[in-house]
Amino acid sequence: MIANEPWAADSADRRCSPSAARNREPILDVLRRALPRSGTVLEIASGTGEHAVHFAAALPDLTWQPTDPDVDSRRSIAAWRAEAKLPNLRPPLPLDVTHADWPVARADAIVCINMIHISPWTATLALMAGAGRLLSAGSPLFLYGPFRRAGVPTAPGNEAFDASLRSRDPAWGLRDLDEVAAVAQASGLLLRDVIPMPANNLSALFERVG
Ligand SMILES: C[S@@+](CC[C@H](N)C(=O)[O-])C[C@H]1O[C@@H](n2cnc3c(N)ncnc32)[C@H](O)[C@@H]1O
Repeated sequence: MIANEPWAADSADRRCSPSAARNREPILDVLRRALPRSGTVLEIASGTGEHAVHFAAALPDLTWQPTDPDVDSRRSIAAWRAEAKLPNLRPPLPLDVTHADWPVARADAIVCINMIHISPWTATLALMAGAGRLLSAGSPLFLYGPFRRAGVPTAPGNEAFDASLRSRDPAWGLRDLDEVAAVAQASGLLLRDVIPMPANNLSALFERVG
């Protein structure tokens, strides 16, 4: 339970994301290689909390810190957490990347799945600035989602997804990976690896340098 959120987590609060159920294993395969063996992983935009439970259960030597700015998402994360009873899964924290006062001062890794195309570009800028502040040299930032890539035709399904995102909010939409990498570099994060994932998604692995 979060001090300023005095609700009890209830199984009725648990939300389900079909895409999280589909992508959690392929993402976990990458995380096993990308994350440190121990330490604290800050998950940005945890959504339902299904990823947090799955990854914390599979990676017991890591402490998993889920976050989301949306209170109903935090209720869902808390409800999944109450059921899972994992010692390494912390209660969810409210974290909006665009707010300067992140509730976490440091992390050994940051994971952010399916956020940067469903938020304004300012959220990507803030995510990179925050990751640059929190991570120390050698620590990873893992991003997952659909991207545009220079010289690579965007899959028709991703073009349709981009159009639907922009119709919901003109500030949303698929990001160009080169532009994301340039913003990351300005915060001391180098793009080290790009891993093709099912359903035309990518894992993008950054490392804090310097
Ligand atoms: C499509 S959901 C993805 C949730 C989860 N990561 C997943 O893949 O199932 C996008 C999430 O981004 C969060 N989000 C949107 N804007 C944000 C911001 N400025 N800072 C942090 N999270 C944000 C939303 O609250 C939502 O939970």
